[in-house]
Amino acid sequence: MSETEWSNLSTEERRFPPPPELAAQANVTEETYRVAAQDPEAFWAEQAKRLSWGTPPTETLDWTNPPFAKWFADGTLNAAYNCLDRHVEAGHGDRVAFHFEGEPGDTRAVTYAELTREVCRAANALTTLGVQAGDRVAIYLPMVPEAVVAMLACARLGAVHVVVFGGFSADALSTRILDCDVRVVITADGGYRRGSASALKPAVDTALEKCPDVRTVLVVRRTGQETAMTEGRDLWWHEALAAEADEHTPQMFPAEHPLYVMYTSGSTGKPKGILHTTGGYLVGTSWTHWASFDLKPETDVFWTAADIGWVTGHSYLVYGPLVNGATSVMYEGTPDTPHKGRWWEIVQKYGVTILYCAPTAIRTFMKWGEQIPAEYDLSSLRILGSVGEPINPEAYVWYRTHIGGDRTPVVDTWWQTETGMHMIAPMPGVTAGKPGAAMRPVPGVSIDVVDDEARPVADGHAGLLVITKPWPSMLRTLWGDDQRFVDTYWSRFEGLYFAGDGAKKDADGDLWLLGRVDDVMNVSGHRMSTTEIESSLVSHPKVAEAAVVGAKDETTGQAIVAFVILRGEAAEQAGEDVVAELREHVARDIGKIARPRQIMVVPELPKTRSGKIMRRLLRDIAEDRELGDVTTLTDSSVMDLIKDKLPSAP
Ligand code: WT7
Repeated sequence: MSETEWSNLSTEERRFPPPPELAAQANVTEETYRVAAQDPEAFWAEQAKRLSWGTPPTETLDWTNPPFAKWFADGTLNAAYNCLDRHVEAGHGDRVAFHFEGEPGDTRAVTYAELTREVCRAANALTTLGVQAGDRVAIYLPMVPEAVVAMLACARLGAVHVVVFGGFSADALSTRILDCDVRVVITADGGYRRGSASALKPAVDTALEKCPDVRTVLVVRRTGQETAMTEGRDLWWHEALAAEADEHTPQMFPAEHPLYVMYTSGSTGKPKGILHTTGGYLVGTSWTHWASFDLKPETDVFWTAADIGWVTGHSYLVYGPLVNGATSVMYEGTPDTPHKGRWWEIVQKYGVTILYCAPTAIRTFMKWGEQIPAEYDLSSLRILGSVGEPINPEAYVWYRTHIGGDRTPVVDTWWQTETGMHMIAPMPGVTAGKPGAAMRPVPGVSIDVVDDEARPVADGHAGLLVITKPWPSMLRTLWGDDQRFVDTYWSRFEGLYFAGDGAKKDADGDLWLLGRVDDVMNVSGHRMSTTEIESSLVSHPKVAEAAVVGAKDETTGQAIVAFVILRGEAAEQAGEDVVAELREHVARDIGKIARPRQIMVVPELPKTRSGKIMRRLLRDIAEDRELGDVTTLTDSSVMDLIKDKLPSAP
């Protein structure tokens, strides 16, 4: 691979060292890295002491039957007890667990003591309904505190929760219910989204037409809208809970007892049910939550601006923060309801100190303009996190400058539903951040970048990201499909976990994520990163957002096709000259090889509900094909909007 392709990443010279006050009191130091590297298993055994165990484990890792790992296998614990009761017993019952902010402006502060009582009631109610350890319970809720209560009530009973994102269709819900053989569903009448009550229960009714084995539906009343209840099957959550005591004795379960299944889409076919178990998952998420964000549970106000229906919500809105006894913000709605300053109003109101969100949100805020956050007092913020996709240097610097007041470290966290916890991230008190780089494996984690023959690449080179040692919160298998688990992650390279991401080690050995390997293009025998070209495009002042795909090309194998959204004024005057200007900009920035064959100016980009750009659909357009499946788009009319704006195919 030639070096020129990665030039714009390698020439990034900006460095942001930790603020000295932060470094002086940081949870993680260079010493942490040293200790963890010396003996990762001993390091994780030490971190396991963060939890309260019924029986403390004497074993750490059992890797006798790879790739099926067991962590802390002879220990027993209760996940809900670790998140709740023990903090109350330690005298922190009055601490706020969640500052809930509903989209219409209703608020609730839920303390650890209150949350514990609610979870006990819910656990008692589920028991009354016949739920037992090992049973699967589907949760299909908006972002309301009951979602946390439902998850923890399951965990308390050893029942496996299967949270399905509230924005998913009835079809997606029924597929997951059937795959997991769910018998009980927890949902709501609806939730608030973009200023109005949006019904949820009708989707459950539709889904259940295909799921005859579901015997009970518990319905949280959120919006109060008219809701059909099926006699003998549907119960109001508040009535079921009111009938129960607010005390419940937690039972201890083996560390490897299943905690939850979370579905994620694979590159093909049906979604994969990622299985996480209890002990290792709680150790990994609580440690990384404490380490990556330098969490001080007594004083920090932490906000993961992600939905509970994604792994980010599971690990860093529920389990990590609660095991750590942290205070979090939970926001129900969209960032522009009722106005585009809503997030910053929330930061100001609750004194948020740590904000964790996705680059796609940051780029949206960039598009709206820095004058909006400038109207709010954001001085409480001390750390900013990023997750979900590579953060382009421009977004990183904008985030740091306009949200972080040029003080806050930006912690770019690379991980996956499968990894459960952060795997690559700068440590805010140690690492001098480079805009766009996820930097180093977190202490205790072993990662490498390898070539096609599994040979580690030298510094300055790119390849495939692999995880070289088991980690505590790793997925244990795919629900009901051990073979697919082995095939997907462990078959590409002997003994290595194949993440499906491309990555580069820079001259210092720091890691840059280059996007999914399926998004890496091959142009005239040169590997080109979609991410890198997107970064270049958005670094141009006229560009708000960009998506790049590799389209089949007769001569070059693949050709680069870019879709761009222009900023304010430029958007109005868009014409051939802007396109020419942008093509030259990329050629200048990265090299002629990177100059897009075609740039299409579009009003919107197709995104999944988790904010990922659906490049597959863009590729369909770039290759002038019928569009594939659009059902996972947030808004499927986006594709019509894009097609309408395009000149007829080249
Ligand atoms: C894929 C995992 C991790 C929770 C949310 C997404 C991409 C995620 C980063 C990052 C570059 C990232 C990878 C990964 N990804 N975070 N900081 N930098 N890429 O979870 O849906 O399981 O997706 O998201 O491609 O493989 P997910």
